[in-house]
Amino acid sequence: SGLSVLKFKEKSDACKRVAREIGSLIRHRAAENRNCVLGLATGSTPIRVYRELVRMHREEGLSFHNVVTFNLDEYFPMQPTAPQSYVRFMNEHLFDHIDIVRSNVHIPNGTIELESVPGYCRDYDELIASCGGIDLQLLGIGRTGHIGFNEPGATRDTRTRLVKLDTLTRIDAVSDFGGIEYVPLLAITMGVDTILQAKRIRLLAFGEHKADIVQRAIETRMNATVPATFLQAHRDVQYLLDEDAAECL
Ligand code: GLP
Repeated sequence: SGLSVLKFKEKSDACKRVAREIGSLIRHRAAENRNCVLGLATGSTPIRVYRELVRMHREEGLSFHNVVTFNLDEYFPMQPTAPQSYVRFMNEHLFDHIDIVRSNVHIPNGTIELESVPGYCRDYDELIASCGGIDLQLLGIGRTGHIGFNEPGATRDTRTRLVKLDTLTRIDAVSDFGGIEYVPLLAITMGVDTILQAKRIRLLAFGEHKADIVQRAIETRMNATVPATFLQAHRDVQYLLDEDAAECL
């Protein structure tokens, strides 16, 4: 299978490794006058990857001029200016600190009318395809086994769409929103199939609270109850774990 697991003593080493891989991909593409298409994730896990990319921009002259990005997901509804928005998260942790062309940045829009969501989602998938597909998709994993916001029940063939958030996912977001009643019920997310079309997938997971779901994602047969199991079908997926997250393997 194309799935490999890399264990790190320090999570910062895992993040640096992914950042270096991204940096060299960007440079290779730039040397060929081509774009590099990145699939990006939010959550606490990839923050150090972004910090390292910012450092590489500042200290090593890594340019993001040829980089196109697609974020996995966004809460719905969500104003981009809200503290919990993924637009704000990405600006704060990455985009405000690098030389990316703003029109190359794509994050699902949490402000559109409900009736225009299906068309919007179709366009999002088509835009990814028209850019040549995602070269490298960064992923975290939720305790429900979600990737993006593909919660239990999400099948292998799903595309970008509006989804209901799992109760456990909403509970995990309480600290960001200041109360369960403020956590959105819905989100727009890339689908499982959208994610699987990325050429490389790099999933980061840290901490003992991820150990059980990491074990199930890697070791149970592919099934929609744990959407991350579908990654087993991909030909180039790496799990980058710290020792706590790898404990049950
Ligand atoms: C959110 C995001 C996911 C992320 C998950 C885990 O639900 N939509 O993309 O993987 O949280 O978050 P954390 O990295 O903070 O554990």
